[in-house]
Amino acid sequence: MSISAVRTQVQSFLDRDTETWSYVVYDREGGAAAVVDAVLNYDAASGRTSTEGAEEIVAFVREKKLTVEWILETHAHADHLSAAPFIREQLGGKIGIGNQICQVQKIFREVFNLEKEFLVDGSQFDHLFGDGETFSVGDLEARVIYAPGHTPADMAWLIGDALFVGDTLFMPDVGSARCDFPGGDAATLYRSVQKLLALPEETRMFMCHDYPPSDGREHQCETTVGDQKRENIHLHDGISEAEFVAMRSERDATLAMPRLIIPSIQVNIRAGEMPPAEDNGTVYLKVPINAL
Ligand SMILES: [Fe+2]
Repeated sequence: MSISAVRTQVQSFLDRDTETWSYVVYDREGGAAAVVDAVLNYDAASGRTSTEGAEEIVAFVREKKLTVEWILETHAHADHLSAAPFIREQLGGKIGIGNQICQVQKIFREVFNLEKEFLVDGSQFDHLFGDGETFSVGDLEARVIYAPGHTPADMAWLIGDALFVGDTLFMPDVGSARCDFPGGDAATLYRSVQKLLALPEETRMFMCHDYPPSDGREHQCETTVGDQKRENIHLHDGISEAEFVAMRSERDATLAMPRLIIPSIQVNIRAGEMPPAEDNGTVYLKVPINAL
């Protein structure tokens, strides 16, 4: 089978609590798969986690008899905990993220005053991808596109004809991701998005989140490069970098911190693992007071 003849198969999963889209990306039934941005359910009031959502992904992979080769994170998410370790334990595969995750680890090691054993070299992940690196998912060719701005470590994953954009662009009627987290930068995001929009117009583009702007609209996960160029309210063709930066900065100044940023970051910079248990056997997450 020639690679060009293979159309990327994409199954989406919506976590309604955090409005996050996760994906199973595969070449064919019985073939190979990558899992993108799997969510671990977390109840902040009780501090309890559950794998309910991730189990749907596991069930789908088993039903289609797929071999998971990669478990990919577009970035260290600030709004949900990653279920990557659960997916790996259930299905195998290697956990991958962009190599600039080390910058994010450095920032948050300080914020959370993490234990001295916490390494900021990305070694918690199975593989760190660099910009332009190529890999495969079964018969699908894949390429990594460094897309910082929302955080310093965002990667977009181009797998066959499907592009997983993480928190860069949202659906055309929603616009773009915020750029005010530590290490974020609106001008950098603008330049990253120009790289994504330079791909062929028919490239299918899959979101990491959707926040439907009106009551009537269902959550959506898929658009195309062409539609974004024509219709994205923040970044359609013709919007200059200066215009975008002014709009994004003004808007970011009005946004509250994501509800789960404090637990999410602590877990996600460890590739989805919890911090080490304390001497009573219990795992704790920290809350820095007046620091974020
Ligand atoms: Fe994010």
